Amino acid sequence: MRSSSVAIVTGASQGIGRATALRLAHDFSAVVLAARNKDELQKTAAGVNAAGAESMVCALDLREPQLAENLVNKVLDRFSRIDALLNIAGAVPQIDLFKMTDAQWEDGLALKLHGARRLTICAWDALKASKGSVVLISGSAALDPKPAFAAVAAINAAIIVLAKAFAEQGIKDGVQVNSVIPGAVMTARRRSFFEKWAPAHNLSIEDAMEKFPEEVGIARFGKPEEIADLMAFMVSPAAKWMTGASVRMDGGEIKGI
Ligand SMILES: NC(=O)c1ccc[n+]([C@@H]2O[C@H](COP(=O)([O-])OP(=O)(O)OC[C@H]3O[C@@H](n4cnc5c(N)ncnc54)[C@H](OP(=O)(O)O)[C@@H]3O)[C@@H](O)[C@H]2O)c1
Repeated sequence: MRSSSVAIVTGASQGIGRATALRLAHDFSAVVLAARNKDELQKTAAGVNAAGAESMVCALDLREPQLAENLVNKVLDRFSRIDALLNIAGAVPQIDLFKMTDAQWEDGLALKLHGARRLTICAWDALKASKGSVVLISGSAALDPKPAFAAVAAINAAIIVLAKAFAEQGIKDGVQVNSVIPGAVMTARRRSFFEKWAPAHNLSIEDAMEKFPEEVGIARFGKPEEIADLMAFMVSPAAKWMTGASVRMDGGEIKGI
């Protein structure tokens, strides 16, 4: 474990964010856990503490513009530093392009794009001071957009672009910024995807989950822990020269080069 090192993980109440917080507890002396559900964050915090790191629970809605600055101030008041920021929270509606309302687009953008953008900017000076690392989470829909989930694809594509733009500034400021592009990882969000995918393919949810990997050309779903291990590497000293990268981990789903 690195002495006096602080990581912020958003979306830490479940899924990939929780797995990442638990994994980072082995590398960082403190892990800050952000999402809305305080009870679930406290469960993650217990796991972080059991792994030997300090935890700090911050229950907040990252769509609220002023809360990013509050979060960073609270972290700096308690720990005086930020070494890594992992922007994982995301809940872009998975709705057909021709049915999705402006309000649903705005909601998806408000959390996944603007939440991550704002928090990264608010934490930037602290990350500059620590020569820290940022990871933003995209998704393989960005590389294979379909009308059934166009907002997911478009916002994930925007995340890759945003990470690249931050990375360019980071070269001057000593802040490393990358994005990760996961494929189908089995979480609550992925299960909710099958509520739409299954009826569209005339399948029960169970049958759809069994058929899906073959349909998209993968051997199996990914596990949150596998994405967590990748992100832990991306913010580790071993990956320090990696910046401006968008790293795919999708079981081979994206067939293009
Ligand atoms: N699972 C996949 O197959 C997959 C594939 C590609 C990319 N991704 C991306 O990976 C990220 C995590 O996905 P997941 O599958 O782990 O999803 P998940 O299980 O649904 O977790 C989403 C996380 O975001 C948090 N969140 C939602 N709304 C929030 C808000 N307004 N403010 C603060 N936090 C909020 C949730 O916590 P609360 O509800 O407690 O707020 C939760 O911790 C997402 O950005 C997703 O797009 C997932």
